[in-house]
Amino acid sequence: MRIDIVTIFPEFFSALDVSLLGKARESGLIELAVHDLRDFTHDRHRSVDDTPYGGGAGMVMKPEPWGYALDSILDPLPEEREARLEGCPTIIFPSPAGELFTQAMAQELSAEPHLIFGCGRYEGIDERVFEYAASRARVRLVSMGDYVLNGGEVATMAMIEAIGRLIPGVVGNPQSLVEESHSDGLLEYPSYTKPAEWRGLEVPPVLLNGNHGAIAAWRHEQQLERTRRIRPDLLS
Ligand code: ADE
Repeated sequence: MRIDIVTIFPEFFSALDVSLLGKARESGLIELAVHDLRDFTHDRHRSVDDTPYGGGAGMVMKPEPWGYALDSILDPLPEEREARLEGCPTIIFPSPAGELFTQAMAQELSAEPHLIFGCGRYEGIDERVFEYAASRARVRLVSMGDYVLNGGEVATMAMIEAIGRLIPGVVGNPQSLVEESHSDGLLEYPSYTKPAEWRGLEVPPVLLNGNHGAIAAWRHEQQLERTRRIRPDLLS
């Protein structure tokens, strides 16, 4: 998968050099490029924002740098044009006003050949940027949840981690993806390792007797109980 990120804080994404995603980049499973939006400005101050038309608090990100940045990522080399049109990229703009990011969306996006993340700051991005982007690619505004971050960078990091680990080969043991929270719509069951007793706290005896049927039934019951208690919305 190819991933492009447009941001005014490229240094934010150095964390993607490490851990599983760092390895996936080294092995070529993920090809990632971070673009500094200010490199696409043409004024002395490299400004990316301005006051909002109609008044109001805060600043709005100007459309011009976004246009140049997206053009530089989307513009295919002539001989690549055919191939690129086939797998039309998806541009994701993290936004608290977007559709909610879920495991199902992560799964869907993990099958895409090319994702572009546009990280907004300040009070938002000039609306025409979304219109222009939609004329060149598929566009999705995506929210991490019902709270407000200072910008799209942290949301983009979270999405890339959730999506990247679902790309075949990125996580060493694919079975661990099957049994985790949200993979089957329920929260994950509790896990234990040795020792069997620690500071007076014991591992549930059912896990010690080697009865795989009983263990599977107990784990499923734990999933249901936890989901009912913590996230009843997932059951409805
Ligand atoms: N930018 C600011 N808040 C956000 C949120 N909750 N989700 C995604 N992007 C955001």
